[in-house]
Amino acid sequence: MYPSKLPGQGASIFTVMSALSNHHKAINLSQGFPEFNPDPALVDCVDRAMRNGQNQYSPMAGQPNLRGVLADRQNRWGRAFSIDPDKHITIVPGATAGLYSIFQALVLSGDEVILFDPSYDCYAPSIQLAGGVPVRLSLNADGSYPFESLKQHINPKTKMVVVNTPHNPLGLVFGQSDWTALSEILANTDIIVLSDEVYEHMVFDAAQHISVLQVPALADRAVAVSSFGKTFHATGWKLGYITAPEYLTNEIRKVYQFLAFAANTPMQIAAADFLTNHPLYEQSVSVLMQQKRNRFAAALKSSRFRLLPCEGAYFQIVDYSAISDMQDQAFAVHLIETIGVAAIPVSAFYQQPPQTQRWLRFCFAKNDDTLDKSAALLCQL
Ligand SMILES: Cc1ncc(COP(=O)(O)O)c(C=O)c1O
Repeated sequence: MYPSKLPGQGASIFTVMSALSNHHKAINLSQGFPEFNPDPALVDCVDRAMRNGQNQYSPMAGQPNLRGVLADRQNRWGRAFSIDPDKHITIVPGATAGLYSIFQALVLSGDEVILFDPSYDCYAPSIQLAGGVPVRLSLNADGSYPFESLKQHINPKTKMVVVNTPHNPLGLVFGQSDWTALSEILANTDIIVLSDEVYEHMVFDAAQHISVLQVPALADRAVAVSSFGKTFHATGWKLGYITAPEYLTNEIRKVYQFLAFAANTPMQIAAADFLTNHPLYEQSVSVLMQQKRNRFAAALKSSRFRLLPCEGAYFQIVDYSAISDMQDQAFAVHLIETIGVAAIPVSAFYQQPPQTQRWLRFCFAKNDDTLDKSAALLCQL
């Protein structure tokens, strides 16, 4: 046996469920990717950039135009300090690579990093590969954050707390009172807050996305991660960016230059052109995804699934305890095999899954027809 750096780590649950879904020709609501294409105007911008010869390396930190557009937007949305494109923004090949660079750059051997479970699957292994120790606290049963437990787990080794808002898989939005509670707990420490905000432009009803960079008490030790894959419905493009104060950006870039050196050029040029010409584009993303959420929920109304509230991101959590007492992994496989619909078992996002929880995650970033068909199948159960 080769001495593995990640013993016990198998293929991710997304890979496993998508493969099973393909094998059974099921409707794949498991992995989080849209079924529809990016705006044709954005695709035209990519085409133009490639034909105009924008096909060589970008500067390490990213195309200046794109960083400029992003800084302008963030300053328009309001940040606790003025975002400077050169000092604070780094374009990366997707949020996953950004997160990896951040952990490698900021977590030293033996440092503890606090995660809230259910948590996105790349955090814990990336922290371990940096020599850090993931400390995984579970959200309370009602979806609130375990701030008392957080307080108790903070110690001199705590380097970072990771927040994900809007949340994958639970669709929760970290509200003002959550940020205030976190700020109070972290006052008088220099613990870094890493906020994974890849779904920042998908918030519904009265919910509002609040970036960590909008929180005055935290912004000077905050790192925010964004993804164009999510915002542009183009997960395969693998493009994202990191926003952080200068001293943290400098450290992150030191690592990032050896991870990828630079993100791909034509997509960066295209993103800058498209965003310049569509100053309110991001608002349309929430509108679209809210329609999808509502359509899927309405179509499941007569089912025996109980739908949990979804304030943001593009996932619907359903409680299936009225239908079956199977563990969620087994029930997800059963769904694929019997009715041909694929979901993600929520236990995969935990270190210690709650034993009695019977939750599945469905991605609703799909065409209306797909949502209607899958909901009709789910209503048969
Ligand atoms: C919470 C969260 N963070 C990060 C990512 C990765 O984003 P990217 O595709 O830009 O690497 C995802 C993708 O599903 C995600 O859900």
